[in-house]
Amino acid sequence: MRTDPVFQMNLTWVFTLVAFSTVACHALYDCPRPKCETCLPADIYDAPGVGFDLTPSYGTSAVHYYNGTVVEVVQIHGKPEYLELMTRLAKGGKPILMEDQGILQKSYFKLFSLLDSFLGLPFSARTGWCWLNEKLERPLKSDDINIISEMLWNLKLATEKQIRQDLNRVAITTPDIPTLSPEMINTALQELDLQTWTGDCSWYPRRLIEADAVYAASGYGLCKSYHDLWECDDEFYLAGSPVILFVSFTRHLLYTSITIPNNGESLMRFAYDEIKDLNFELGLDQILEADNPDILWARLREQITTFSQSSEFRITGFLLAGESTTNPLFQDNLKDALAGLSGLHIEPKIAPFALMGSVHGEKSMDLTFAAARGAALYARRRQEVQCDCSELGECELSRQKERSGGQVKLDL
Ligand SMILES: *[C@@H]1O[C@H](CO)[C@@H](O)[C@H](O)[C@H]1NC(C)=O
Repeated sequence: MRTDPVFQMNLTWVFTLVAFSTVACHALYDCPRPKCETCLPADIYDAPGVGFDLTPSYGTSAVHYYNGTVVEVVQIHGKPEYLELMTRLAKGGKPILMEDQGILQKSYFKLFSLLDSFLGLPFSARTGWCWLNEKLERPLKSDDINIISEMLWNLKLATEKQIRQDLNRVAITTPDIPTLSPEMINTALQELDLQTWTGDCSWYPRRLIEADAVYAASGYGLCKSYHDLWECDDEFYLAGSPVILFVSFTRHLLYTSITIPNNGESLMRFAYDEIKDLNFELGLDQILEADNPDILWARLREQITTFSQSSEFRITGFLLAGESTTNPLFQDNLKDALAGLSGLHIEPKIAPFALMGSVHGEKSMDLTFAAARGAALYARRRQEVQCDCSELGECELSRQKERSGGQVKLDL
């Protein structure tokens, strides 16, 4: 038996890999994926991908067309009750899910939400609602859901004008705030008869976090073979994972987070903020309206510096988003804050604004819409794949026939 260390290391490595891929294969993906029995029709496959971003201050919508054109549709400012709700949720407060409803309904909702998170069942909560509604024969009213629904409704209307067709499915990105749960957002969507691209399929993200969406919208971490989950992962196999500092700055909020996309891949099932900090006292409005703005700018620098220093890993990348990032004073203060960090905490060669507002190798984008663009891109890609099977090659042929008005052949 060979005992030289290199051989042993290789052997350990191989065993680890085999063990890992077996576990990953059975736990995460039921490999190999079965072949689909039907093909996606061209009108779904080619439809514009629509993404909404629900920030704590406002909502935005973006459309990603089949031909690759991206349109930033609308920004809707949150009403006071929207801001109040987001602040409450961000501070860890519980959503008020129902007005004056019995304990029974509340516990059913909890049960369905639990089922959702354990089994990844996409519409169990929704089915639960409907079933309960039927049983109790009264509409479920819930303040917080209505507030979110109203925002979504406005985004939907503006988007339908842009795409000149009914909108029936959307991908939504949010900050990584646990109480702003996918169940809550999907219930709000359901009130508007909108379906979702998040949480609908256990192999794809339950939640699309803003940092990840902005990373993708900036052109990073996008696999070429997105029609196949496995090939997608293979493209990034053993690539290093970047440690990204994400800063979102709006009129009401400074949001900082560290996110570490696995092997650098974006839009994966498991994306979350490692650490985050939300400060509702350091929005641009509060700073500008203060008697002494300099004190607040100093606090903003302090927050960014302290936050970056608290990261367990050295920061290697930087992403910016939000409606107030174009403010020159903010940019100066941000630059100062980052420049003050030592090489221990941040990779010295990242140019602070290297990623700011630039789409990798393309023209620039408006950072207000960065996350919505990422969500739209995600929707666009998801429309071309089925949840739990791989399409046969013939499907593209049948879609080509559909596109040219020929015979429609769905079943193979
Ligand atoms: C892409 O499609 C959209 C919607 O049909 C259209 O408005 C736009 O001009 C197209 N862009 C290109 C480059 O063809």
